[in-house]
Amino acid sequence: MNSSNTPADLSGRKVAVPGGTGAVGEGVVRAYLAAGADVVVPTRTQERAEEFRRVLGEAATDRLHLVVHDYTTFAGAEQLADEMERRLGGVDDVVAPIGGWWAGKPLWEIDEADWQSAFVDLATAHMAVARAFVPRLSPRGAYVLVVGESAVTPIPGSGLVSMEQAALSMMRQVLAAELAGRQRVFTLLLGPVATRLTETGEPDQVTAGQVGDVAVAASAAKEAGREIRMRGRAEADAALALLRDPRPAGTGPVLAVSTMEPKRERRDDLVEVLAELAEQIRAEPGCLHYSVHRARGEDDGRLLVIQMFTSIQAFSEHSAKVAGQIPRLGALLATPPEPPTLFERLPLGDDTATEHLPA
Ligand SMILES: NC(=O)c1ccc[n+]([C@@H]2O[C@H](COP(=O)([O-])OP(=O)(O)OC[C@H]3O[C@@H](n4cnc5c(N)ncnc54)[C@H](OP(=O)(O)O)[C@@H]3O)[C@@H](O)[C@H]2O)c1
Repeated sequence: MNSSNTPADLSGRKVAVPGGTGAVGEGVVRAYLAAGADVVVPTRTQERAEEFRRVLGEAATDRLHLVVHDYTTFAGAEQLADEMERRLGGVDDVVAPIGGWWAGKPLWEIDEADWQSAFVDLATAHMAVARAFVPRLSPRGAYVLVVGESAVTPIPGSGLVSMEQAALSMMRQVLAAELAGRQRVFTLLLGPVATRLTETGEPDQVTAGQVGDVAVAASAAKEAGREIRMRGRAEADAALALLRDPRPAGTGPVLAVSTMEPKRERRDDLVEVLAELAEQIRAEPGCLHYSVHRARGEDDGRLLVIQMFTSIQAFSEHSAKVAGQIPRLGALLATPPEPPTLFERLPLGDDTATEHLPA
């Protein structure tokens, strides 16, 4: 296992990066080369190949295999995968930062040419690469899709991008369900990225290099595939730290669940106190979630309290803070308040769940 700031050593790994010549792809290619991997970058034109070699400069070592080849059709992707197996002896990982940005029209103004280029061509390229490479990946490898935040947030005037990126996001989920743990499939969901093509990066923007570092860490990690959101630097740093140094059991977020049985006709008073406490508890730095529930359709009776804290330490600090409130709550309860039952999350095959419960 890596310590949290040591880059992985992927010497001997064979990695394909279709779309690697692009703005985001450059960071991915550099990161895998720096990690010692053999990196295959297909590109559809000779000019693009030459330009990309110039862009990489000294980073273009003999472990970079830049090939002019159309990988965006089913047959083309299949040929590329065959050739990679023949020449390098197999495929371990694929990272697919294929495609770019499109903007300009609301959906009702697009024509067939827009639809073809911004949706069909890109979706076809991703599908072609996935179907050719996924069955050939080695068990230690990972398939990493790169998408934008537009996959989950509609951007007026860029609807085709949102729709195509949402389709890719679902493609990962379908692949993960169909593979049932046999291969790891990740999505890196990015906000705007600072790249060689951007004039000035905002300080909080993720860089193409960070995208590469997270992809490398996902390849090297043992953890199941999932969606990794990195819409700003803080999320990217957190994702990288977690991939490089997964927390051992018992140190992750804690879910605290308790029930309260109000005295007859005192439930409204109890809810009032809980509402007042909710504000303080949600403001605690370690609190991820606090909610109170009643049985569906019941105006009286038991309440269920669900709280989530970043760690057991944060939960202990919270318990100390609210200890003074117990007599006040106890006065409204039919049975003495019980300490909550604590739960921690089990790592499941495809851990796609959102990080937090909705607040
Ligand atoms: N740049 C950002 O700020 C940003 C932000 C969020 C998400 N993303 C996501 O990151 C991925 C890559 O974006 P990018 O900015 O690096 O794009 P880019 O600079 O345009 O590069 C994309 C690469 O994809 C390849 N490609 C294959 N089929 C293509 C097609 N039909 N149209 C366009 N390119 C095609 C091209 O490689 P060849 O021509 O060499 O074959 C190209 O170099 C996309 O999924 C994008 O949504 C980017």
